[in-house]
Amino acid sequence: MLIEQARRLIEEEMRQLTRYQRVPLFYDPIDYMLGMGGKKVRPVLLWLSCGMAGGDPRRALPAAAAVELLHDFSLVHDDIMDNDETRRGKPTIHKRWDLNTAILAGDGLLGFAFQKLLQSDTPRRAELAEELTRAMIVICEGQALDKQFENDSAVTTEAYMDMIQRKTAALIEVSCVMGGIVAGADGERLESLRTLGHSLGMAFQLQDDMLDIMADEAALGKKVGSDFEMHKQTILAIRLRERLGAEAFARLDLAGYRQALQEEGVLQTVDEQIRDYFKNTFDILESFEAGPYAAALKELILSLKNRTY
Ligand code: IPE
Ligand code: IPE
Ligand code: MG
Ligand code: MG
Ligand code: MG
Repeated sequence: MLIEQARRLIEEEMRQLTRYQRVPLFYDPIDYMLGMGGKKVRPVLLWLSCGMAGGDPRRALPAAAAVELLHDFSLVHDDIMDNDETRRGKPTIHKRWDLNTAILAGDGLLGFAFQKLLQSDTPRRAELAEELTRAMIVICEGQALDKQFENDSAVTTEAYMDMIQRKTAALIEVSCVMGGIVAGADGERLESLRTLGHSLGMAFQLQDDMLDIMADEAALGKKVGSDFEMHKQTILAIRLRERLGAEAFARLDLAGYRQALQEEGVLQTVDEQIRDYFKNTFDILESFEAGPYAAALKELILSLKNRTY
């Protein structure tokens, strides 16, 4: 119920963007992206975190829209960088239009993210801006590391964990924190939200790596096997290479890779790792007072734990 309500309100908030001139080449792809849906994990987390920390979640709507717009920006540019042709079940912007149009659409989404953020009605708006700006820079660091790691067979699990903390966990973490800030939370409570978001974010990217190879393509809405094709250093690739050695690993095709992941027990190991992060997330959630928002957060995190797309 609360989750559905949050999604509806966030979608409505995201439709209210101030545009200065009618420029179809700029706005058509942006509207296309905004019309694609997506799970809205980050803004719903922000909205529910605000409620759980004792705030009025209505006041969190501009900040919630801001994190989703920033996420959308990162996806448009990520698909260029990863050479991906589908996103959310539809052609990516750089395929449907062209590269320049997609770069610009991403830039525009980022601009709208900050436009929304500045509409936040809270005395702590500067703190929100500081958090989101830092996350934005950290995401770019992570994306750069992700590119740098392609074709580097010496990447360690530690380096990988640092990379995903940046490219993915940072935004999920900051979503929880910003919800807390709007609610007026400070000190330990805010730090708890930060750790909760961090654990959830790490689990989320490990799952994303897993889904990239194991999911049903139609449900996932993006190409299965894309990471393998791009020689991405995912948790699966790193752990499998550790077991097989670089030479045997390099000889695998996609079918062989899938089979070896299963046979070498890599899927199971990563599954356990994901479960540990979720356990940590639930443990932190328990430290908050029970109530409708905490219950809805639990429901959201459970649905993410079981996600197939
Ligand atoms: C995809 O994020 C990018 C990652 C950080 C793994 P989501 O899985 O949240 O994408 P949408 O918004 O639901 O499409
Ligand atoms: C996503 O990583 C990270 C960001 C978009 C910042 P991926 O490249 O794995 O995401 P998907 O799988 O394309 O959604
Ligand atoms: Mg990608
Ligand atoms: Mg990527
Ligand atoms: Mg991925």
